[in-house]
Amino acid sequence: MSTITAAITAVGGYVPDYVLTNQILETMVDTNDEWITTRTGIKERRILKDKDKGTSYLAIQAAKDLLNKSNTDPEDIDMVIMATATPDMPVAATGVYVATQIGAVNAFSYDLVAACSSFLFGMSTAARYIESGKYKKVLLLGADKMSSIIDYEDRATCIIFGDGGGAVLFEPNTEGYGVRDEVLKTDGIGRQSLKIDAGGSILPASAETVANKQHYVFQDGKTVFKFAVSNMADVSEQIMKRNNLSGEDIAFLVPHQANKRIIDATAKRMNLPEEKVMINIHKYGNTTSATLPLCLRDYEKQLKKGDNLVFASFGGGFTWGAVYVKWAYNS
Ligand code: UT7
Repeated sequence: MSTITAAITAVGGYVPDYVLTNQILETMVDTNDEWITTRTGIKERRILKDKDKGTSYLAIQAAKDLLNKSNTDPEDIDMVIMATATPDMPVAATGVYVATQIGAVNAFSYDLVAACSSFLFGMSTAARYIESGKYKKVLLLGADKMSSIIDYEDRATCIIFGDGGGAVLFEPNTEGYGVRDEVLKTDGIGRQSLKIDAGGSILPASAETVANKQHYVFQDGKTVFKFAVSNMADVSEQIMKRNNLSGEDIAFLVPHQANKRIIDATAKRMNLPEEKVMINIHKYGNTTSATLPLCLRDYEKQLKKGDNLVFASFGGGFTWGAVYVKWAYNS
């Protein structure tokens, strides 16, 4: 009996139309284009302006893009995993609503929450369901409406994040394409460095928490940077070593788009030239759960069957890891 691997067979994505440039941010907080560009690599990000639309809207658009492009019948999907840090509501999983809205009426769904590593961890989850042999089409969505949890008076965070959604379809493969290996890590030491203080079970919402702006993202950027820059490179190097991959064997690094300097450090450790690194942080900023699938969406045409890809992320919690994928198709 041949081994089943989980191959990526289609990708999709969506970003809202509204463009929040560094120049506009200069009028909102005490910052400047030069600082943002040199410290992060970000030039602009997309924002979902419609007040009545949440993360589900971004995920639905991304899923529809995938379904249209790949001619997939939503009724054939067995499972929808919704990776997100900004669910529509605290209770009633966003993925369940999204699955129904896209017509995936035969699928079951749940949300997967691991901050900026939600999508990467979701790749592992999707792969296990496929490898079990029981599920034939697993749709992994990564979407975040980060603008819903950002204080646009806080220059430390508002320059970083953007809104977006991405979608990836996993199907069984018996020729070795798809998810080949993973290194996934967590460390609760990061809990205080990147968080939203209020709105959970420790500090429920009150007039006081709202007045204190405790429903917005707080980030101790320096500490997160220090952990991210070494840990993302460590796991990427680890996954290369144990799969006997050199920089030359890898077609692309698919990195979480949090900071261009973190990405550069990881690529350097992997011995990868710039052209082998997927980058779209300049256009979208950090879209949290959507960064990896949006990279795939943007670079899909450059990918060839058999290409070795290393996905890597680092996020709040802390959560981080690397996943090695053999690409399964030519566009
Ligand atoms: O995706 C989840 C994981 N998150 C990450 O990986 C993010 C990791 N952290 C980072 O990417 C970086 O730490 C930031 C981009 C958030 C900040 O960059 P930094 O180089 O670490 O800057 P800093 O926080 O050390 O601040 C340096 C200076 C400070 O001024 P002083 O104290 O040196 O006078 C800040 O007040 O820059 C100032 N500063 C700003 N200046 C202009 C902070 N934010 C801004 C701003 N514009 N937006």
